[in-house]
Amino acid sequence: MYRTHTCGELNIKDVGKKVVLSGWVERIRDLGGIKFIILRDRYGVTQVVVNPESPAYEISQQIGREWVIQIEGTVSERPESTKTETQTGEVEVIVEKINILSKAELPPFYPGDKVSEDLRLKYRYLDLRDKNMNKNLIVRHKMAQAAREFLNKHGFLEIETPYLTKSTPEGARDFLVPSRLQKGKFYALPQSPQLFKQLLMVSGFDKYYQFARCFRDEDLRADRQPEFTQIDIEMSFVEMEDVINLMESFVRHVYSSVGIKLPEKFDRITYDEAMEIYGSDKPDRRFGMELKDLTNYFKDTDFKIIKNVLNNGGSIKGFITRIPISRKIASELESYVKEFGLGGLLWFKLENGEISSPTNKFLGISYENISKDYNLKDGDVVLLAAHTNREQLNTALGALRLRIAKEHFKDLEENFDALWVVDFPFLEWNEEEKRYVARHHPFTMPKNIDSKPEEIKAYAYDMVLNGNEIGGGSIRIHNSEIQRKVFEIIGLTNKEAEEKFGFLLEALKYGAPPHGGIAFGFDRMVSIALKTSSIRDVIAFPKTTSGTCQLTGAPSSVDKSQLEELSIKLVDIKEGGDENE
Ligand code: AMO
Repeated sequence: MYRTHTCGELNIKDVGKKVVLSGWVERIRDLGGIKFIILRDRYGVTQVVVNPESPAYEISQQIGREWVIQIEGTVSERPESTKTETQTGEVEVIVEKINILSKAELPPFYPGDKVSEDLRLKYRYLDLRDKNMNKNLIVRHKMAQAAREFLNKHGFLEIETPYLTKSTPEGARDFLVPSRLQKGKFYALPQSPQLFKQLLMVSGFDKYYQFARCFRDEDLRADRQPEFTQIDIEMSFVEMEDVINLMESFVRHVYSSVGIKLPEKFDRITYDEAMEIYGSDKPDRRFGMELKDLTNYFKDTDFKIIKNVLNNGGSIKGFITRIPISRKIASELESYVKEFGLGGLLWFKLENGEISSPTNKFLGISYENISKDYNLKDGDVVLLAAHTNREQLNTALGALRLRIAKEHFKDLEENFDALWVVDFPFLEWNEEEKRYVARHHPFTMPKNIDSKPEEIKAYAYDMVLNGNEIGGGSIRIHNSEIQRKVFEIIGLTNKEAEEKFGFLLEALKYGAPPHGGIAFGFDRMVSIALKTSSIRDVIAFPKTTSGTCQLTGAPSSVDKSQLEELSIKLVDIKEGGDENE
């Protein structure tokens, strides 16, 4: 028997028991010839003591950190002064026998050491020995179980859908998999199981869910991985309200399983409001700083740049904040908004009851009115900008707002703000392709399909938690004529629509129930619960932002013979790959 107990289990009630433990050597201390070994497994740590007179003493001289050993001994109460508050902190095991199960070479780092993320990812199996990483995966597991528990209780069926499939557009590029049996043809890894879950509704399954791995070849960031996990959900005979209400309870249940209480009722905000007030479609409302339209105060300004913007139908917006400000800081913030296409950033401050601003003298406006209308307090800083394109102005100020919050308001993390963003535009203009594309996806039910394209709204909803989009869904089109019309609006010819989505159009003809659903980004949900700065910290084996798996070296070149079998020839590989012509 390798063990009678785990390393996180023994306590004062076990004193006097003979036990066997197995685990990793976390630390060894030698105090006057007595060896104190901290033995670790995923349940915790136990101190084991090897006295010089123990038959195991000899062997204890050889072992090093991260070796895997088995010990036999007797549980004993620790001297009062050496007790700790940990789970096993009142006891230790006096060792009689040690068995080395596995030696360890000097590792590149010890679990928990502060080393680069690249190194941690290369030796992820060592990194995951760290108690924080261990906790992250345990919390992930608990949240997954809570999700399943809720959905099972509400009658959802867990059904798997294919990973080798046909491209389902969700706005990113596909990962393609060449077919050997049908040369020249490719499967696509699913960006989401969207169409399969809809087909399951046509089959009458009524309530479906799946922990689905999704694959998207897009630019990666802290909250984006090329493969990630969705809790994908679909329901029949529902309206938007039904989905929203049930999914609110779902998310509350999942978070409460790890001790996080979300509000009883989530607020709702329209897409237009979110953009106007927060400059983002996933607003973080934990720190005020709402965008205000200040255009009216500038009607009489002589300041040329602003006058030009206003004469060209532009607007001036800004927000009030409380940060230390100086010309230097303002100029840094200005450079930041310029990255978003703004011409500049103006600011003024209320200090000792007086307005101070470097641009004071030029603007020729009544700061006093702004101050009065917005009830400015001493120390308040107003940052503002002008632009002819309102969306660009909102987005730039929205980004500035987030940057300031990140730099200056560190205590945000204790609060949880959950809301729904609704009434999304159905379409967005794609400048590159010179056509409208579906904002959510083209299977979403439009509200007013006969309106002008830019005015069509969608029965779509996003769930936003602390400024992160954790889920998105919609009511779907369940009528093939409407679906055809939508394909037309997004510029697909009848032929293209048939080629790409003929199977869906056909299925919708054979009795499709009204249905709708949502998918949650599970990695994001866990990352927010744990307050990690990246979803990489809640994924056992994530990829870097360049899509590399540091551990295995994927993606990698493959043998010429493998390519030949697939009838694939590589051309123009300059960097990073072998010359497989
Ligand atoms: P959507 O594309 O909004 O919707 O995705 C749903 C949720 O998945 C998460 N997410 C990601 N997480 C990590 N890395 C990524 N690259 C990534 N991309 C998205 C987000 C997002 O809210 N089929 C629809 C859902 C539906 O309509 O039911 C879909 O996939 O948290």
